[in-house]
Amino acid sequence: MMALRGVWKTYHGPAGPVHALRGIDLTIGQGEFVAIMGPSGSGKSTLMHILGCLDVPSRGEYVFRGRPVHGMSHAELAAVRNREIGFVFQNFHLLPRLSALRNVELPMVYAGVDRRSRRARALALLKEMGLADRADHLPSELSGGQRQRVAIARALANRPSLILADEPTGALDSATGRDVLQLLASLNREGVTLVIITHDEQVGRMAPRMVRLLDGRVVSDERQVQGG
Ligand SMILES: Nc1ncnc2c1ncn2[C@@H]1O[C@H](COP(=O)(O)OP(=O)(O)O)[C@@H](O)[C@H]1O
Ligand SMILES: [Mg+2]
Repeated sequence: MMALRGVWKTYHGPAGPVHALRGIDLTIGQGEFVAIMGPSGSGKSTLMHILGCLDVPSRGEYVFRGRPVHGMSHAELAAVRNREIGFVFQNFHLLPRLSALRNVELPMVYAGVDRRSRRARALALLKEMGLADRADHLPSELSGGQRQRVAIARALANRPSLILADEPTGALDSATGRDVLQLLASLNREGVTLVIITHDEQVGRMAPRMVRLLDGRVVSDERQVQGG
């Protein structure tokens, strides 16, 4: 489903070039659940940006569902992101002035879904997330775990084939984090490909496959017996 070959990403900062990724080869199949692990600065977020078509490699190639990303225009990349990828971030990235419902509707607004259908789908997703009675609340009126569930509902809005979660439990207490992970894992069991970026070993152990990064390189890629 996704294949990176010899991917480098170089940032040009005031202190000179920073090679955030140094020749990544990685293939992730449809329906997989992969944890990407590594210490701070190892390139996890950079890799997520490339997997999620938020950024393109400086060198090497990335093929997303059969399509080479380097040949795509900005508009094409944006369309792929909006329709095929759901993003979940550590700090939720909800729009503070929009209700939970309107946050979940937003990706469908961009995708041109009519008002009535998107409202119905957003409500159904919030209900699935156990938030039916929070639809009209602003993010500031919700707990961290509730905010992350709104963000997951939003990620699912356009029925993506891939969910990319960057430190999705990083801002949550451990019990709430576990619930959010269980929720993501259950979505994976229903068929969505799930890639979770984390530096937390306990989170990583939930995934059947763990890829470790160090200094912008893959240093291990292992299938594992699932723990909890
Ligand atoms: N926009 C940027 N400009 C310059 N350097 C960056 C930028 N983003 C990340 N980096 C650098 O690239 C390396 C990898 O960063 P990142 O992918 O955020 O790692 P991680 O998510 O594993 O902490 C780090 O050295 C970081 O400082
Ligand atoms: Mg990061």
